[in-house]
Amino acid sequence: MLKPNYDIAKDRSKTKINYLDVDNEIKKIYDGKKYFLKTYGCQMNVHDSEQISSYLEMLGFARTEELANADIVVLNTCAIRENAHDKVFGYLGRCKHLKKEKKDLIIILMGCMAGQVDVVEDIEKNHKYVDIVIGPNNIFDLPKLLMEKLDKQNILVHSNSDIVPENIIYKRDSDICAWVNVMFGCDKFCTYCIVPFTRGRERSRKMECILNECKALVDSGYKEITLLGQNVNAYGKDLNLGYDFATLLENVAKLGIPRLRFVTSHPWDFTDKMIDVISKYDNIMPYIHLPIQSGSNRILKKMNRRYTKEEYITLFNKMKEKIPGVAITTDIIVGFPSETEEDFQETLDIVNYCKYDGAYTFIYSERKGTASSFMKDDVSQEEKENRLHRLNELVNKYSKESNEKLLNKVVKVLLIGESEKDKEKLYGYTETMKLVNVSCDKKEIGNIVSVNITDAKSFSLDGNIIK
Ligand code: SAH
Ligand code: SF4
Ligand code: F3S
Repeated sequence: MLKPNYDIAKDRSKTKINYLDVDNEIKKIYDGKKYFLKTYGCQMNVHDSEQISSYLEMLGFARTEELANADIVVLNTCAIRENAHDKVFGYLGRCKHLKKEKKDLIIILMGCMAGQVDVVEDIEKNHKYVDIVIGPNNIFDLPKLLMEKLDKQNILVHSNSDIVPENIIYKRDSDICAWVNVMFGCDKFCTYCIVPFTRGRERSRKMECILNECKALVDSGYKEITLLGQNVNAYGKDLNLGYDFATLLENVAKLGIPRLRFVTSHPWDFTDKMIDVISKYDNIMPYIHLPIQSGSNRILKKMNRRYTKEEYITLFNKMKEKIPGVAITTDIIVGFPSETEEDFQETLDIVNYCKYDGAYTFIYSERKGTASSFMKDDVSQEEKENRLHRLNELVNKYSKESNEKLLNKVVKVLLIGESEKDKEKLYGYTETMKLVNVSCDKKEIGNIVSVNITDAKSFSLDGNIIK
């Protein structure tokens, strides 16, 4: 049984999390109790939850999927859009109700909402049934706060660290695919986005630390690593050690992991060197998520995206030309302040040009404190929904078309587990990140197999394994 502790070094990137023995007193209190952990938001939060689980299990908690059975509830929250925020407050209501019956229930708010000053103030004032609030940069404080809470009545808040923790132990959800953080925070300050406020400034991990983590994953048989950052292309800039994301990607690829991926890339600092590295290594998957957000230069400028649609298209074409078979997906926001029908048409034009393999589409949601919250949110809800609907129809048409191109072709699929819809099948992903349901023996889970594609829909493919 271990308990994390940490030494904050002057050079914050040398900060180490140390694991000490948990004393018997703590073990007696938490051993055998149950935790319920609910995760909202992006891959970064999913990975953070792997850290949260590991701490809770080290303290003696066992996981439950039933809220009613929990002794401790952790909500790992997302603040990206209003509806994410509303969902969490809805769930907190359920937790409050449960606490009326179960007086000792501990409620913990973590994730990006816990990094928002106004949310934290609201919790402290109006939601006193919440016991602990921990921002996304202070996850390693969880065990310490759980111990302090034993003799305190007030809400404990920890949410402002800018250190780069190392030596973290994760309880990974999968033994096939692993997430690896390369950096934390974001400095891009796109005007609509809350992330730089909730996760703070860009902080890169030292390359040697990332390589050590990846090497250990390769040695323990992982098949896929996904390098994570809000904008991985900015990796290394804050360290000034003479290396960048392309260097890191190449060094991880050389460790011999069968599949290497990364998310997310900002088009502004996607370098030619990165394209060269991706095309040079067979184990770097030909799949790039390249958010465009809008096809209108006027709106892109108001969003502070730092590129024009022409620059985006040049980059897009370069990728298609230099990386054979590359699949490209994107993110698009509709109804940004002052977006006209003409601006929106330009977004449709770019979708028609790029014919994306897939796209995540969103209705603009005003986030308090961001630069765009000072602009008038003047596109009506009805118009926003209408644009989203038209955009989705187009996006789905192209994702179906790109899937149909694989019909009767043989592709390599990494099999992850049983398909949720059909337990007789396994699901997995192509190199280009397309979801495939495959009829084959369960013992193939974790293998990269050749699959003949027999059916193509908008969001998935069906196929048979080839021996
Ligand atoms: N770092 C990633 C994005 C993380 S957020 C990147 O830059 O690509 C994921 C997506 O949510 C964004 O790409 C954007 O399309 C959307 N998004 C962010 N803030 C939003 C807001 N206020 N309203 C609607 N969509 C938003
Ligand atoms: Fe948000 Fe922009 Fe940073 Fe992405 S790059 S996290 S959209 S500020
Ligand atoms: Fe949400 Fe935070 Fe991710 S706001 S999208 S959980 S970085």
